[in-house]
Amino acid sequence: MTPAVRVLSDAHAVQRAAAEEFAARTEAAVRARGVTFVALSGGSTPRGLHTLLADPGEPFRARVPWEQLHVFWGDERPVPPDHPDSNYRMAHDTLLRHVPVPRAHIHRVAGEDPHHARAARRYARELRQVFSTHGRLEGGWPRFDVVILGMGADGHTASVFPGTDAVHEKTRLVVAAWVAKLGSHRITLTPPVLNQADAVLVLVTGGDKAETLAAVLEGPPLPDVYPSQTIRPLTGSLTWLVDRAAAARLAAPAGR
Ligand code: 6PG
Repeated sequence: MTPAVRVLSDAHAVQRAAAEEFAARTEAAVRARGVTFVALSGGSTPRGLHTLLADPGEPFRARVPWEQLHVFWGDERPVPPDHPDSNYRMAHDTLLRHVPVPRAHIHRVAGEDPHHARAARRYARELRQVFSTHGRLEGGWPRFDVVILGMGADGHTASVFPGTDAVHEKTRLVVAAWVAKLGSHRITLTPPVLNQADAVLVLVTGGDKAETLAAVLEGPPLPDVYPSQTIRPLTGSLTWLVDRAAAARLAAPAGR
Protein backbone atom coordinates (compact mmCIF):
# COMPACT_ATOMS: atom_id res chain seq x y z
CA MET A 1 0.00 0.00 0.00
CA THR A 2 1.35 3.46 -0.87
CA PRO A 3 2.11 5.47 2.24
CA ALA A 4 0.12 8.63 2.83
CA VAL A 5 2.17 11.74 3.59
CA ARG A 6 0.27 14.55 5.29
CA VAL A 7 2.08 17.84 5.53
CA LEU A 8 0.75 19.94 8.40
CA SER A 9 1.59 23.47 9.43
CA ASP A 10 3.57 22.78 12.60
CA ALA A 11 4.31 20.28 15.36
CA HIS A 12 1.05 21.04 17.13
CA ALA A 13 -0.97 20.25 14.01
CA VAL A 14 0.97 16.98 13.63
CA GLN A 15 0.12 16.02 17.20
CA ARG A 16 -3.56 16.91 16.71
CA ALA A 17 -3.80 14.83 13.55
CA ALA A 18 -2.17 11.93 15.40
CA ALA A 19 -4.58 12.30 18.34
CA GLU A 20 -7.56 12.25 15.97
CA GLU A 21 -6.27 9.12 14.25
CA PHE A 22 -5.47 7.47 17.61
CA ALA A 23 -8.98 8.14 18.92
CA ALA A 24 -10.69 6.98 15.71
CA ARG A 25 -8.65 3.77 15.44
CA THR A 26 -9.01 2.74 19.08
CA GLU A 27 -12.75 3.51 19.07
CA ALA A 28 -13.25 1.43 15.92
CA ALA A 29 -11.22 -1.49 17.28
CA VAL A 30 -13.23 -1.60 20.50
CA ARG A 31 -16.49 -1.41 18.57
CA ALA A 32 -15.34 -4.36 16.44
CA ARG A 33 -13.58 -6.54 19.02
CA GLY A 34 -14.04 -5.08 22.51
CA VAL A 35 -10.30 -4.48 22.97
CA THR A 36 -7.55 -2.37 21.38
CA PHE A 37 -3.76 -2.59 21.26
CA VAL A 38 -1.41 0.33 20.76
CA ALA A 39 2.36 0.76 20.70
CA LEU A 40 3.70 4.09 21.94
CA SER A 41 6.95 5.72 20.98
CA GLY A 42 9.67 7.48 22.92
CA GLY A 43 11.48 10.64 21.94
CA SER A 44 10.20 14.18 22.24
CA THR A 45 7.64 14.40 19.39
CA PRO A 46 4.93 12.21 21.00
CA ARG A 47 4.85 14.21 24.23
CA GLY A 48 2.44 16.71 22.69
CA LEU A 49 0.28 13.87 21.40
CA HIS A 50 0.08 12.37 24.89
CA THR A 51 -0.75 15.74 26.41
CA LEU A 52 -3.59 16.26 23.94
CA LEU A 53 -4.98 12.77 24.56
CA ALA A 54 -4.95 13.29 28.32
CA ASP A 55 -6.40 16.79 28.31
CA PRO A 56 -9.99 16.84 29.67
CA GLY A 57 -10.55 20.07 27.71
CA GLU A 58 -9.94 18.29 24.39
CA PRO A 59 -12.37 15.91 22.67
CA PHE A 60 -9.95 12.95 22.46
CA ARG A 61 -9.88 11.96 26.11
CA ALA A 62 -13.60 11.19 26.19
CA ARG A 63 -13.43 9.23 22.94
CA VAL A 64 -10.52 6.88 23.58
CA PRO A 65 -11.75 3.64 25.23
CA TRP A 66 -9.09 3.69 27.96
CA GLU A 67 -10.43 0.72 29.91
CA GLN A 68 -10.21 -1.57 26.88
CA LEU A 69 -6.80 -0.26 25.80
CA HIS A 70 -3.62 -2.35 26.05
CA VAL A 71 -0.47 -0.24 25.92
CA PHE A 72 2.91 -1.45 24.68
CA TRP A 73 6.04 0.40 23.57
CA GLY A 74 7.86 0.26 20.25
CA ASP A 75 11.18 0.53 22.01
CA GLU A 76 12.87 1.15 25.33
CA ARG A 77 16.19 2.38 26.67
CA PRO A 78 18.25 0.27 29.12
CA VAL A 79 17.17 2.17 32.22
CA PRO A 80 14.76 1.65 35.14
CA PRO A 81 11.16 2.84 34.76
CA ASP A 82 11.70 5.91 36.92
CA HIS A 83 14.73 7.10 34.94
CA PRO A 84 14.35 10.37 32.99
CA ASP A 85 15.36 8.53 29.77
CA SER A 86 12.73 5.81 30.17
CA ASN A 87 10.11 5.75 27.43
CA TYR A 88 7.74 4.15 29.92
CA ARG A 89 8.27 7.03 32.31
CA MET A 90 7.65 9.64 29.62
CA ALA A 91 4.35 7.99 28.67
CA HIS A 92 3.41 7.54 32.30
CA ASP A 93 4.04 11.17 33.20
CA THR A 94 2.43 12.69 30.11
CA LEU A 95 -0.47 10.28 29.57
CA LEU A 96 -0.96 7.12 31.59
CA ARG A 97 -1.20 8.65 35.03
CA HIS A 98 -4.00 10.91 33.79
CA VAL A 99 -6.27 8.31 32.16
CA PRO A 100 -8.03 5.14 33.40
CA VAL A 101 -5.97 2.44 31.64
CA PRO A 102 -6.09 -0.63 33.91
CA ARG A 103 -2.69 -1.35 35.42
CA ALA A 104 -2.73 -4.90 34.02
CA HIS A 105 -3.04 -3.48 30.51
CA ILE A 106 0.25 -1.58 30.72
CA HIS A 107 2.96 -3.77 29.20
CA ARG A 108 6.33 -2.12 29.57
CA VAL A 109 9.76 -3.38 28.57
CA ALA A 110 12.00 -4.23 31.55
CA GLY A 111 14.69 -1.70 30.65
CA GLU A 112 16.20 -2.16 34.11
CA ASP A 113 17.13 -5.82 33.43
CA PRO A 114 20.91 -5.88 32.90
CA HIS A 115 20.44 -8.89 30.61
CA HIS A 116 18.95 -7.05 27.67
CA ALA A 117 18.39 -10.16 25.55
CA ARG A 118 16.42 -11.67 28.43
CA ALA A 119 14.29 -8.52 28.73
CA ALA A 120 13.63 -8.71 24.98
CA ARG A 121 12.57 -12.37 25.25
CA ARG A 122 10.33 -11.60 28.19
CA TYR A 123 8.65 -8.75 26.32
CA ALA A 124 8.15 -11.00 23.27
CA ARG A 125 6.53 -13.63 25.52
CA GLU A 126 4.19 -11.05 26.98
CA LEU A 127 3.24 -9.80 23.51
CA ARG A 128 2.43 -13.34 22.34
CA GLN A 129 0.47 -14.12 25.44
CA VAL A 130 -1.67 -10.95 25.46
CA PHE A 131 -2.36 -10.92 21.73
CA SER A 132 -3.16 -14.64 21.57
CA THR A 133 -5.60 -14.31 24.48
CA HIS A 134 -7.54 -11.84 22.36
CA GLY A 135 -7.18 -13.67 19.04
CA ARG A 136 -4.88 -11.00 17.60
CA LEU A 137 -1.76 -13.14 17.11
CA GLU A 138 -1.61 -13.90 13.39
CA GLY A 139 0.95 -16.42 12.17
CA GLY A 140 2.84 -15.75 15.39
CA TRP A 141 2.86 -11.95 14.91
CA PRO A 142 0.89 -9.55 17.13
CA ARG A 143 -1.44 -7.25 15.24
CA PHE A 144 -1.53 -3.75 16.75
CA ASP A 145 -4.41 -1.41 15.98
CA VAL A 146 -2.13 1.63 16.10
CA VAL A 147 1.65 1.94 16.20
CA ILE A 148 3.07 5.39 16.88
CA LEU A 149 6.60 5.93 15.61
CA GLY A 150 9.05 8.79 15.30
CA MET A 151 12.07 9.13 13.07
CA GLY A 152 15.53 10.27 14.15
CA ALA A 153 17.59 12.61 11.97
CA ASP A 154 19.75 9.57 11.15
CA GLY A 155 16.73 7.70 9.76
CA HIS A 156 16.17 5.31 12.68
CA THR A 157 12.69 4.47 13.84
CA ALA A 158 11.66 2.80 17.10
CA SER A 159 15.18 1.55 18.01
CA VAL A 160 15.94 0.08 14.61
CA PHE A 161 19.20 1.97 14.03
CA PRO A 162 21.32 2.26 10.86
CA GLY A 163 23.74 -0.60 10.37
CA THR A 164 22.25 -2.85 13.07
CA ASP A 165 20.95 -6.40 12.61
CA ALA A 166 17.49 -5.27 13.72
CA VAL A 167 17.01 -3.83 10.20
CA HIS A 168 16.98 -7.36 8.76
CA GLU A 169 15.33 -9.28 11.59
CA LYS A 170 12.78 -11.71 10.17
CA THR A 171 11.90 -14.11 12.97
CA ARG A 172 12.03 -12.43 16.38
CA LEU A 173 9.38 -10.05 17.69
CA VAL A 174 11.79 -8.10 19.88
CA VAL A 175 15.55 -7.67 19.81
CA ALA A 176 18.10 -6.07 22.10
CA ALA A 177 20.55 -4.36 19.76
CA TRP A 178 23.86 -2.75 20.61
CA VAL A 179 23.85 0.73 19.10
CA ALA A 180 27.49 1.75 18.77
CA LYS A 181 26.78 5.42 18.15
CA LEU A 182 24.84 5.61 21.44
CA GLY A 183 27.29 3.35 23.29
CA SER A 184 24.22 1.58 24.62
CA HIS A 185 21.74 -1.20 24.07
CA ARG A 186 18.20 -0.53 22.89
CA ILE A 187 15.29 -2.97 23.01
CA THR A 188 12.95 -2.70 20.07
CA LEU A 189 10.03 -4.25 18.27
CA THR A 190 11.29 -5.54 14.93
CA PRO A 191 10.11 -4.46 11.47
CA PRO A 192 7.90 -7.57 10.96
CA VAL A 193 5.90 -6.69 14.10
CA LEU A 194 5.58 -3.02 13.17
CA ASN A 195 4.49 -4.06 9.67
CA GLN A 196 1.76 -6.37 10.94
CA ALA A 197 -0.15 -3.39 12.39
CA ASP A 198 -3.48 -2.13 11.11
CA ALA A 199 -2.19 1.46 11.20
CA VAL A 200 1.27 2.94 11.58
CA LEU A 201 1.64 6.67 12.21
CA VAL A 202 5.10 8.21 11.89
CA LEU A 203 5.38 11.68 13.43
CA VAL A 204 8.20 13.83 12.09
CA THR A 205 8.77 17.48 12.90
CA GLY A 206 11.59 19.97 12.49
CA GLY A 207 13.92 21.12 9.75
CA ASP A 208 16.80 18.98 11.04
CA LYS A 209 14.95 15.94 9.68
CA ALA A 210 14.08 17.39 6.26
CA GLU A 211 17.03 15.93 4.35
CA THR A 212 16.54 12.46 5.84
CA LEU A 213 12.78 12.51 5.30
CA ALA A 214 13.29 13.23 1.59
CA ALA A 215 15.84 10.40 1.33
CA VAL A 216 13.52 7.98 3.16
CA LEU A 217 10.41 8.81 1.15
CA GLU A 218 11.81 9.71 -2.25
CA GLY A 219 15.31 8.24 -2.42
CA PRO A 220 16.41 4.74 -3.46
CA PRO A 221 15.84 1.88 -1.00
CA LEU A 222 18.75 1.92 1.46
CA PRO A 223 17.28 0.39 4.63
CA ASP A 224 20.69 -0.15 6.27
CA VAL A 225 21.24 3.58 6.01
CA TYR A 226 17.62 4.63 6.60
CA PRO A 227 15.89 1.97 8.72
CA SER A 228 12.62 3.93 8.53
CA GLN A 229 12.34 2.53 5.01
CA THR A 230 11.67 -0.90 6.52
CA ILE A 231 8.24 0.33 7.63
CA ARG A 232 5.84 -1.03 5.00
CA PRO A 233 2.71 -2.48 6.64
CA LEU A 234 1.66 -5.72 4.93
CA THR A 235 -2.05 -4.94 4.81
CA GLY A 236 -2.41 -1.98 7.18
CA SER A 237 -1.99 1.71 6.48
CA LEU A 238 1.13 3.84 6.83
CA THR A 239 0.67 7.57 7.42
CA TRP A 240 3.52 10.02 7.72
CA LEU A 241 2.39 13.07 9.70
CA VAL A 242 5.01 15.72 9.07
CA ASP A 243 5.26 19.43 9.63
CA ARG A 244 6.24 21.95 6.95
CA ALA A 245 9.78 22.26 8.24
CA ALA A 246 10.36 18.50 7.99
CA ALA A 247 8.71 18.42 4.55
CA ALA A 248 10.88 21.23 3.18
CA ARG A 249 13.08 18.94 1.05
CA LEU A 250 10.31 16.76 -0.38
CA ALA A 251 9.94 17.07 -4.12
CA ALA A 252 6.28 18.03 -4.02
CA PRO A 253 5.31 18.89 -0.44
CA ALA A 254 2.52 21.22 -1.48
CA GLY A 255 0.85 18.60 -3.63
CA ARG A 256 0.54 16.06 -0.85
C1 6PG B 1 13.21 6.64 21.18
C2 6PG B 1 12.34 6.45 20.00
C3 6PG B 1 12.87 6.94 18.70
C4 6PG B 1 12.28 8.33 18.44
C5 6PG B 1 13.09 9.07 17.41
C6 6PG B 1 12.60 10.48 17.21
O1 6PG B 1 13.04 5.95 22.14
O2 6PG B 1 14.04 7.54 21.11
O3 6PG B 1 11.27 5.68 20.07
O4 6PG B 1 12.68 6.12 17.62
O5 6PG B 1 10.95 8.22 18.04
O6 6PG B 1 14.42 9.10 17.85
O7 6PG B 1 12.75 11.16 18.40
P1 6PG B 1 12.32 12.69 18.61
O8 6PG B 1 10.85 12.71 18.56
O9 6PG B 1 12.87 13.02 19.96
O10 6PG B 1 12.98 13.44 17.51
